Amino acid sequence: MPDNRARYIATVLQAVILGAVTYYGVKWLVDAMDPTKKSRLAAKRQAQQLLKKIGIEGVKLSEYELTVAADIVDPLTLPISWKDIGGLRETIDEVKETVILPIQQNDIFRNSSLLSAPKGVLLYGPPGCGKTMIAKATAKEAGCRFINLQVSSLTDKWYGESQKLAAAVFSLATKLQPCIIFIDEIDSFLRMRDKADHEATAMMKAQFMSLWDGLMTDDTCQVVVMGATNRPQDVDRAILRRMPCAFHVGLPDSEQRKEILNIILNKEKLEEDVDLDELAEITVGFSGSGLKEICRVAAMSCVRDYMKSRSNSQSLNSKLDENVKASLRPIRMHDFVAAVERSGSSATLQS
Ligand SMILES: Nc1ncnc2c1ncn2[C@@H]1O[C@H](COP(=O)(O)OP(=O)(O)OP(=O)(O)O)[C@@H](O)[C@H]1O
Ligand SMILES: [Mg+2]
Repeated sequence: MPDNRARYIATVLQAVILGAVTYYGVKWLVDAMDPTKKSRLAAKRQAQQLLKKIGIEGVKLSEYELTVAADIVDPLTLPISWKDIGGLRETIDEVKETVILPIQQNDIFRNSSLLSAPKGVLLYGPPGCGKTMIAKATAKEAGCRFINLQVSSLTDKWYGESQKLAAAVFSLATKLQPCIIFIDEIDSFLRMRDKADHEATAMMKAQFMSLWDGLMTDDTCQVVVMGATNRPQDVDRAILRRMPCAFHVGLPDSEQRKEILNIILNKEKLEEDVDLDELAEITVGFSGSGLKEICRVAAMSCVRDYMKSRSNSQSLNSKLDENVKASLRPIRMHDFVAAVERSGSSATLQS
């Protein structure tokens, strides 16, 4: 009898050990074969540190929410405010009225479905004109949490996981509210649905939309999905319907170009002959980032001249003076004109 019992215990033990070894063996193998494992763990660690830094403690997050949390940005660290954005006063005022005010004055607007913050905002227009800047400045000004959603963080090789991650975006945003979910280049993620879409992608898009609908029916929820695109015609119609609040951020006119130039050049040393009115006139068709580029090229001419004068007196390899910026000559009007002429062809491409 005791013999039988001992044999029985030995068999059970054997089975348990075999089971455990198989389980951990398979788990180790799957982990070893998973190329994203390391980055997922790093993202989670980073998310935990970030949440602590922005004062979100004691909020329980699921594993999926933690993965998405790696995309949270501390609004205070965003290096952009309204004063850095030139020539878009009207758009900024509208954003302040329709998005920021309802978020900040939540007590007053909370119970009105018409006056609460819109659940979807679209910024559209040509590249390099300030859409991303406006989104970031909005988060900073509104004092909201900001999820800079990277579409890559929603993709997972396992069937069904992407949908869980999409659900986690909304549940995380609701836990962090007031919160802006920002999707840059939204056309690439939520483009027209197509028969050729992979089944998992189609399901993720459908789920994204139904989760978004959930936000819309809840007037007390302070989560805003903000998208930016320079190809609004490629965004799915059903998505556009969910973003009724759309702002066009177009190419700047001459007055706006002057404002942008003033902002870009406000800390630079300029020669007296620099005329920003004239510069604004000769930069027709340039975007904000195009203007920044010509200012960069113009400023580089001063560095080039400095290096030339230096190479006459010393070896080029000798260390640069620490105070090199003070030794540079001021930027001249001629430097800007030459930069505009050089980039003329790229401006034509942009417009
Ligand atoms: N209105 C502006 N005022 C000041 N700087 C600007 C403005 N517009 C663009 N810039 C400059 O151009 C850069 C790019 O701007 P931003 O990323 O906001 O463009 P975008 O509209 O999002 O472009 P894309 O569609 O290519 O993403 C900014 O970092 C800034 O230096
Ligand atoms: Mg952008």
